[in-house]
Amino acid sequence: MSLGVFDSGVGGLSVHRALVERLPQADFIYYCDQANAPYGGRPGEEVVDLTRAACERLFGLGASLVVLACNTASAIALRRLQQTWLPGLRRELGRPLNVLGIIVPTIEAATGLPWEHEAERRGEKVEKLDVIGVFSTPGTAASRVYEIEIDKRRQDVAVFSEPCPDLARMIETGASRAELAAEIEGHVAALVRRIGRAPDRAILGCTHYEIIADLFRQALPPQTPLIHQPSAVADSLAAYLDRHPDYRIGTGAGRMFLTSGAAGDASALLQAYWGGPLRFEPVPTAAG
Ligand code: DGL
Repeated sequence: MSLGVFDSGVGGLSVHRALVERLPQADFIYYCDQANAPYGGRPGEEVVDLTRAACERLFGLGASLVVLACNTASAIALRRLQQTWLPGLRRELGRPLNVLGIIVPTIEAATGLPWEHEAERRGEKVEKLDVIGVFSTPGTAASRVYEIEIDKRRQDVAVFSEPCPDLARMIETGASRAELAAEIEGHVAALVRRIGRAPDRAILGCTHYEIIADLFRQALPPQTPLIHQPSAVADSLAAYLDRHPDYRIGTGAGRMFLTSGAAGDASALLQAYWGGPLRFEPVPTAAG
């Protein structure tokens, strides 16, 4: 049994890296659906169907838990899969399995509150508003998940989302750092204009953006810290596994990197982030 990590493309490797650091003994299968990436501009039903197909593959390859290392899939597909698909699959396969997303841990990190906590609405005047900027795909921004879930918990926090329609594709196709920096500067300037000042904190709400977090860092003012999604997810998964020891995630430190797209070496941009060679293999066809 192993831990499956899924993203439309290479962005989920930022979460994968944090998970491997936290759980070095676990066996990991990283699977990305590059044949269908990016997901961020797709209709919701397509994101649900593609995410379900990807999870099916990972369970077929022996994963017991799948982490959706993708904000778009977590925002749009996760709840549907947990409610309508997983209960039947558990009965069919007769073993514990689950799909977990990455937005809950990020919101816990952003609010400093456990997920179960919801604020009492007392209508008190908020003295100081803490503004969080979220950079994400159009799909995640349209879901308004960060706005809605943070507002339920913290009325002294306002969320402004900045959809970045082309950025995941640019990272996926290995655009130059100069092109990426220009794109990011445009989005940071647009967000600052809309808020009327710099955000107090920022979330890179698309896992692809973490690959070039240094370019966001450069574009954002120094007083705007980034909330680190990968480590929030790793902390949360470690705690989840402590609470659910029935999930088997392997002990051999095995690592597989699979793609539905063209197999081969990752782009230079990605290998620079990864710190060494990285190759994607095709998904075994027997797994479906
Ligand atoms: N990395 C993904 C996310 O976190 C998806 C990007 C995309 O496929 O558009 O949203």
